[in-house]
Amino acid sequence: MTNEMPLVTSKEMLIKATNEGYGVGAFNANNMELVQAVIETADEMKAPVILQVSQGAIKYAGLEFATMMVKVAAELASIPVVLHLDHGTDFLQNVLCLRAGFTSLMYDGSAEPLQQNIAISRKITEIAHACGIPVECELGKIPKIEDNLTEEQVSNLMANPEAAEKFVEETQCDSLAAAIGSVHGMKEDIQPLDIGRLDEIRRRTNVPIVLHGSSGVLRTRKDAEEKGIRLKDHEGTVEDAIKHGVAKINVATELSLTFIRAMHAQLEKTPGEKDMRKILLPAKDAVKTRVREYIELFGCAGKAEVAGASGLSASEIKYHE
Ligand code: G3H
Ligand code: 13P
Ligand code: ZN
Repeated sequence: MTNEMPLVTSKEMLIKATNEGYGVGAFNANNMELVQAVIETADEMKAPVILQVSQGAIKYAGLEFATMMVKVAAELASIPVVLHLDHGTDFLQNVLCLRAGFTSLMYDGSAEPLQQNIAISRKITEIAHACGIPVECELGKIPKIEDNLTEEQVSNLMANPEAAEKFVEETQCDSLAAAIGSVHGMKEDIQPLDIGRLDEIRRRTNVPIVLHGSSGVLRTRKDAEEKGIRLKDHEGTVEDAIKHGVAKINVATELSLTFIRAMHAQLEKTPGEKDMRKILLPAKDAVKTRVREYIELFGCAGKAEVAGASGLSASEIKYHE
Protein backbone atom coordinates (compact mmCIF):
# COMPACT_ATOMS: atom_id res chain seq x y z
CA MET A 1 0.00 0.00 0.00
CA THR A 2 2.82 2.43 0.80
CA ASN A 3 6.18 3.13 -0.80
CA GLU A 4 7.63 2.93 2.72
CA MET A 5 9.65 6.12 2.27
CA PRO A 6 10.54 7.09 5.81
CA LEU A 7 11.04 10.67 6.88
CA VAL A 8 14.57 11.97 6.36
CA THR A 9 16.42 14.66 8.28
CA SER A 10 17.01 18.11 6.81
CA LYS A 11 20.77 17.91 7.27
CA GLU A 12 22.02 16.34 4.03
CA MET A 13 19.02 17.63 2.10
CA LEU A 14 19.99 21.24 2.79
CA ILE A 15 23.73 20.73 2.36
CA LYS A 16 23.07 19.23 -1.06
CA ALA A 17 20.77 22.13 -1.98
CA THR A 18 23.41 24.65 -0.89
CA ASN A 19 26.17 22.96 -2.83
CA GLU A 20 24.10 22.51 -5.97
CA GLY A 21 22.48 25.95 -5.91
CA TYR A 22 18.79 25.21 -5.54
CA GLY A 23 16.25 25.74 -2.76
CA VAL A 24 14.02 23.27 -0.94
CA GLY A 25 10.45 24.41 -0.21
CA ALA A 26 9.43 24.30 3.45
CA PHE A 27 5.66 24.55 3.53
CA ASN A 28 3.54 24.91 6.67
CA ALA A 29 1.34 21.90 7.40
CA ASN A 30 -1.98 23.12 8.78
CA ASN A 31 -4.52 20.54 7.66
CA MET A 32 -4.78 17.27 5.75
CA GLU A 33 -5.65 18.80 2.38
CA LEU A 34 -2.64 21.11 2.53
CA VAL A 35 -0.26 18.30 3.52
CA GLN A 36 -1.60 16.12 0.69
CA ALA A 37 -1.37 19.00 -1.81
CA VAL A 38 2.27 19.69 -0.94
CA ILE A 39 3.46 16.07 -0.86
CA GLU A 40 1.53 14.97 -3.96
CA THR A 41 2.94 17.90 -5.95
CA ALA A 42 6.49 17.33 -4.74
CA ASP A 43 6.09 13.62 -5.56
CA GLU A 44 4.85 14.42 -9.08
CA MET A 45 7.84 16.75 -9.58
CA LYS A 46 10.37 14.42 -7.91
CA ALA A 47 11.31 17.22 -5.52
CA PRO A 48 12.58 16.87 -1.95
CA VAL A 49 10.26 18.70 0.41
CA ILE A 50 9.95 19.93 3.99
CA LEU A 51 6.63 19.97 5.82
CA GLN A 52 6.86 22.20 8.85
CA VAL A 53 4.58 22.43 11.83
CA SER A 54 4.37 25.65 13.80
CA GLN A 55 3.34 26.01 17.45
CA GLY A 56 0.09 27.48 16.11
CA ALA A 57 -0.49 24.31 14.07
CA ILE A 58 0.31 22.13 17.10
CA LYS A 59 -2.22 24.10 19.15
CA TYR A 60 -4.79 23.73 16.36
CA ALA A 61 -4.38 20.06 15.41
CA GLY A 62 -2.56 18.59 18.40
CA LEU A 63 1.02 17.30 18.21
CA GLU A 64 -0.02 13.70 17.50
CA PHE A 65 -2.29 14.61 14.58
CA ALA A 66 0.19 17.06 13.07
CA THR A 67 2.98 14.47 13.31
CA MET A 68 0.95 11.54 11.96
CA MET A 69 -0.47 13.54 9.03
CA VAL A 70 3.00 14.28 7.71
CA LYS A 71 4.36 10.80 8.49
CA VAL A 72 1.52 9.04 6.63
CA ALA A 73 1.75 11.38 3.63
CA ALA A 74 5.52 10.81 3.49
CA GLU A 75 5.09 7.04 3.61
CA LEU A 76 2.74 7.21 0.63
CA ALA A 77 5.25 9.21 -1.41
CA SER A 78 8.50 8.21 -3.05
CA ILE A 79 10.40 11.44 -2.32
CA PRO A 80 12.40 12.43 0.74
CA VAL A 81 10.19 14.33 3.21
CA VAL A 82 11.33 16.17 6.34
CA LEU A 83 9.05 16.82 9.32
CA HIS A 84 10.29 20.09 10.79
CA LEU A 85 9.32 22.18 13.82
CA ASP A 86 8.76 25.79 12.70
CA HIS A 87 9.65 28.54 15.21
CA GLY A 88 9.84 26.48 18.37
CA THR A 89 10.22 29.29 20.86
CA ASP A 90 11.39 27.26 23.82
CA PHE A 91 13.42 24.29 24.93
CA LEU A 92 10.43 22.18 25.93
CA GLN A 93 8.68 22.53 22.56
CA ASN A 94 11.81 21.29 20.83
CA VAL A 95 12.17 18.31 23.19
CA LEU A 96 8.50 17.34 22.75
CA CYS A 97 8.88 17.41 18.95
CA LEU A 98 12.11 15.44 19.15
CA ARG A 99 10.28 12.79 21.13
CA ALA A 100 7.34 12.84 18.70
CA GLY A 101 9.66 11.89 15.83
CA PHE A 102 10.33 15.22 14.09
CA THR A 103 13.34 14.90 11.80
CA SER A 104 14.34 18.56 12.01
CA LEU A 105 13.91 21.16 14.76
CA MET A 106 13.95 24.93 15.02
CA TYR A 107 14.71 27.02 18.02
CA ASP A 108 13.65 30.63 17.53
CA GLY A 109 15.36 32.61 20.25
CA SER A 110 14.93 35.93 18.48
CA ALA A 111 12.87 37.35 21.34
CA GLU A 112 15.69 36.65 23.82
CA PRO A 113 18.87 38.63 24.45
CA LEU A 114 21.67 37.26 22.21
CA GLN A 115 23.54 35.41 24.98
CA GLN A 116 20.35 33.66 26.08
CA ASN A 117 19.51 32.80 22.45
CA ILE A 118 22.97 31.24 22.08
CA ALA A 119 22.75 29.33 25.37
CA ILE A 120 19.31 27.81 24.68
CA SER A 121 20.19 27.08 21.03
CA ARG A 122 23.29 25.20 22.20
CA LYS A 123 21.36 23.22 24.79
CA ILE A 124 18.90 22.11 22.09
CA THR A 125 21.54 21.27 19.48
CA GLU A 126 23.36 19.15 22.03
CA ILE A 127 20.29 17.07 22.81
CA ALA A 128 19.03 16.87 19.22
CA HIS A 129 22.45 15.91 17.85
CA ALA A 130 22.65 13.06 20.35
CA CYS A 131 19.56 11.70 18.55
CA GLY A 132 20.89 12.51 15.06
CA ILE A 133 18.42 15.35 14.49
CA PRO A 134 19.52 18.73 13.05
CA VAL A 135 18.45 22.12 14.43
CA GLU A 136 17.77 25.45 12.71
CA CYS A 137 18.37 28.55 14.84
CA GLU A 138 17.38 32.18 14.26
CA LEU A 139 19.64 35.19 14.35
CA GLY A 140 18.35 38.75 14.12
CA LYS A 141 14.58 38.90 14.02
CA ILE A 142 12.28 38.18 11.11
CA PRO A 143 9.29 40.27 12.18
CA LYS A 144 5.57 39.80 11.47
CA ILE A 145 3.56 42.20 9.33
CA GLU A 146 1.36 42.72 12.42
CA ASP A 147 4.35 44.33 14.18
CA ASN A 148 3.78 47.34 11.86
CA LEU A 149 7.46 48.17 11.54
CA THR A 150 8.99 50.81 9.31
CA GLU A 151 11.53 49.85 6.64
CA GLU A 152 14.26 51.17 8.93
CA GLN A 153 13.06 49.09 11.88
CA VAL A 154 12.99 45.92 9.73
CA SER A 155 16.51 46.74 8.59
CA ASN A 156 17.71 47.22 12.18
CA LEU A 157 16.51 43.71 13.07
CA MET A 158 18.56 42.04 10.34
CA ALA A 159 21.27 39.51 11.22
CA ASN A 160 24.76 40.91 11.69
CA PRO A 161 27.26 38.86 9.61
CA GLU A 162 30.01 39.07 12.23
CA ALA A 163 27.58 37.92 14.93
CA ALA A 164 26.42 35.14 12.59
CA GLU A 165 29.92 33.67 12.51
CA LYS A 166 30.10 33.56 16.29
CA PHE A 167 26.48 32.37 16.59
CA VAL A 168 26.95 29.36 14.30
CA GLU A 169 30.20 28.42 16.00
CA GLU A 170 28.81 28.68 19.53
CA THR A 171 25.38 27.16 18.93
CA GLN A 172 26.55 24.37 16.59
CA CYS A 173 23.29 24.90 14.69
CA ASP A 174 22.84 22.96 11.46
CA SER A 175 21.12 25.74 9.53
CA LEU A 176 20.68 29.45 10.09
CA ALA A 177 17.44 31.43 9.84
CA ALA A 178 19.09 34.77 9.15
CA ALA A 179 16.99 37.92 9.05
CA ILE A 180 17.78 39.51 5.67
CA GLY A 181 14.78 41.79 5.11
CA SER A 182 11.74 39.55 4.81
CA VAL A 183 8.63 39.99 6.96
CA HIS A 184 6.29 37.16 8.01
CA GLY A 185 2.67 37.06 6.96
CA MET A 186 2.58 39.48 4.02
CA LYS A 187 -0.30 39.15 1.56
CA GLU A 188 1.68 40.56 -1.37
CA ASP A 189 5.11 39.57 -2.67
CA ILE A 190 6.76 42.99 -2.80
CA GLN A 191 9.61 42.83 -0.26
CA PRO A 192 13.24 42.90 -1.48
CA LEU A 193 16.03 41.02 0.34
CA ASP A 194 19.44 42.30 1.41
CA ILE A 195 21.56 40.08 -0.84
CA GLY A 196 24.78 41.91 0.14
CA ARG A 197 24.19 40.89 3.74
CA LEU A 198 23.37 37.33 2.67
CA ASP A 199 26.70 37.13 0.80
CA GLU A 200 28.57 38.35 3.86
CA ILE A 201 26.79 35.85 6.13
CA ARG A 202 27.55 33.04 3.67
CA ARG A 203 31.19 34.08 3.54
CA ARG A 204 31.51 33.87 7.32
CA THR A 205 29.47 30.74 8.04
CA ASN A 206 29.34 27.16 6.78
CA VAL A 207 25.76 26.07 7.36
CA PRO A 208 22.75 26.22 5.02
CA ILE A 209 20.79 29.47 5.17
CA VAL A 210 17.00 29.57 5.63
CA LEU A 211 14.70 32.25 4.21
CA HIS A 212 11.64 32.98 6.35
CA GLY A 213 8.58 35.04 5.47
CA SER A 214 8.96 34.12 1.81
CA SER A 215 5.31 34.76 0.87
CA GLY A 216 6.02 38.49 0.98
CA VAL A 217 9.33 38.45 -0.89
CA LEU A 218 9.57 39.44 -4.55
CA ARG A 219 9.95 36.21 -6.49
CA THR A 220 11.97 37.29 -9.52
CA ARG A 221 13.57 40.39 -11.04
CA LYS A 222 10.98 40.18 -13.80
CA ASP A 223 8.25 40.37 -11.12
CA ALA A 224 9.93 43.41 -9.60
CA GLU A 225 9.98 45.10 -13.00
CA GLU A 226 6.33 44.28 -13.64
CA LYS A 227 5.38 45.69 -10.24
CA GLY A 228 7.41 48.84 -10.92
CA ILE A 229 9.75 48.11 -7.96
CA ARG A 230 13.33 49.34 -8.49
CA LEU A 231 15.87 47.27 -6.63
CA LYS A 232 18.94 48.90 -5.10
CA ASP A 233 22.37 47.40 -5.90
CA HIS A 234 22.51 45.13 -2.85
CA GLU A 235 18.85 44.09 -3.06
CA GLY A 236 17.32 41.00 -4.65
CA THR A 237 14.49 38.49 -4.97
CA VAL A 238 13.86 34.85 -3.99
CA GLU A 239 15.49 33.85 -7.26
CA ASP A 240 18.60 35.90 -6.36
CA ALA A 241 18.65 34.53 -2.80
CA ILE A 242 18.81 30.98 -4.15
CA LYS A 243 21.62 31.94 -6.53
CA HIS A 244 23.42 33.42 -3.52
CA GLY A 245 23.07 30.29 -1.41
CA VAL A 246 19.71 30.18 0.40
CA ALA A 247 18.78 26.49 0.74
CA LYS A 248 15.44 26.35 2.59
CA ILE A 249 12.55 28.59 1.68
CA ASN A 250 9.65 28.90 4.15
CA VAL A 251 6.18 29.56 2.75
CA ALA A 252 3.02 29.64 4.88
CA THR A 253 0.80 32.66 4.23
CA GLU A 254 0.59 32.35 0.44
CA LEU A 255 -0.64 28.75 0.65
CA SER A 256 -3.16 29.67 3.33
CA LEU A 257 -4.46 32.58 1.21
CA THR A 258 -4.61 30.38 -1.88
CA PHE A 259 -6.65 27.80 0.05
CA ILE A 260 -9.06 30.40 1.47
CA ARG A 261 -9.56 32.19 -1.87
CA ALA A 262 -10.31 28.93 -3.67
CA MET A 263 -12.84 27.95 -0.99
CA HIS A 264 -14.54 31.36 -1.30
CA ALA A 265 -14.69 31.02 -5.09
CA GLN A 266 -16.21 27.55 -4.83
CA LEU A 267 -18.77 28.66 -2.23
CA GLU A 268 -19.82 31.48 -4.54
CA LYS A 269 -20.14 29.05 -7.45
CA THR A 270 -22.17 26.49 -5.47
CA PRO A 271 -23.74 28.39 -2.54
CA GLY A 272 -26.10 25.58 -1.54
CA GLU A 273 -23.44 22.87 -1.43
CA LYS A 274 -23.86 20.51 1.50
CA ASP A 275 -20.84 18.26 0.87
CA MET A 276 -17.82 19.96 2.49
CA ARG A 277 -15.44 17.84 0.43
CA LYS A 278 -16.67 19.56 -2.72
CA ILE A 279 -15.56 22.90 -1.25
CA LEU A 280 -12.24 21.60 0.07
CA LEU A 281 -11.12 19.75 -3.06
CA PRO A 282 -10.82 22.85 -5.31
CA ALA A 283 -8.88 24.50 -2.46
CA LYS A 284 -6.46 21.57 -2.37
CA ASP A 285 -6.08 21.74 -6.17
CA ALA A 286 -5.38 25.48 -6.04
CA VAL A 287 -2.62 24.84 -3.46
CA LYS A 288 -1.15 22.17 -5.73
CA THR A 289 -0.87 24.71 -8.55
CA ARG A 290 0.85 27.22 -6.26
CA VAL A 291 3.27 24.62 -4.85
CA ARG A 292 4.15 23.59 -8.43
CA GLU A 293 5.06 27.25 -9.18
CA TYR A 294 7.20 27.44 -6.05
CA ILE A 295 9.03 24.18 -6.80
CA GLU A 296 9.79 25.49 -10.29
CA LEU A 297 11.04 28.80 -8.86
CA PHE A 298 13.20 27.04 -6.25
CA GLY A 299 14.79 24.76 -8.89
CA CYS A 300 14.36 21.57 -6.84
CA ALA A 301 12.26 19.54 -9.31
CA GLY A 302 14.00 16.26 -10.12
CA LYS A 303 16.37 16.58 -7.13
CA ALA A 304 14.64 13.93 -5.01
CA GLU A 305 16.75 10.92 -5.80
CA VAL A 306 19.73 11.49 -3.55
CA ALA A 307 18.58 14.39 -1.40
CA GLY A 308 18.76 13.44 2.25
CA ALA A 309 21.10 10.55 1.60
CA SER A 310 24.28 12.17 0.35
CA GLY A 311 26.29 11.41 3.46
CA LEU A 312 27.90 14.86 3.43
CA SER A 313 28.71 16.50 6.71
CA ALA A 314 28.32 20.20 7.46
CA SER A 315 32.07 20.69 7.28
CA GLU A 316 31.94 19.66 3.64
CA ILE A 317 29.69 22.53 2.66
CA LYS A 318 31.19 24.74 -0.04
CA TYR A 319 31.82 28.33 0.95
CA HIS A 320 30.27 31.03 -1.19
CA GLU A 321 33.04 32.66 -3.25
O1 G3H B 1 6.36 31.84 10.69
C1 G3H B 1 5.33 31.35 11.13
C2 G3H B 1 4.31 30.87 10.21
O2 G3H B 1 3.91 31.96 9.41
C3 G3H B 1 3.11 30.22 10.81
O3 G3H B 1 2.81 30.61 12.10
O4 G3H B 1 1.05 28.83 12.15
O5 G3H B 1 1.63 30.04 14.20
O6 G3H B 1 0.40 31.20 12.34
P1 G3H B 1 1.40 30.15 12.74
P1 13P C 1 5.15 33.43 5.44
O1 13P C 1 3.89 33.08 6.16
O2 13P C 1 5.35 34.92 5.38
O3 13P C 1 5.26 32.77 4.13
O4 13P C 1 6.36 32.91 6.34
C1 13P C 1 6.51 31.54 6.53
C2 13P C 1 7.58 31.25 7.51
O5 13P C 1 8.59 31.92 7.59
C3 13P C 1 7.40 30.11 8.39
O6 13P C 1 8.48 29.97 9.27
ZN1 ZN D 1 9.28 31.91 9.79
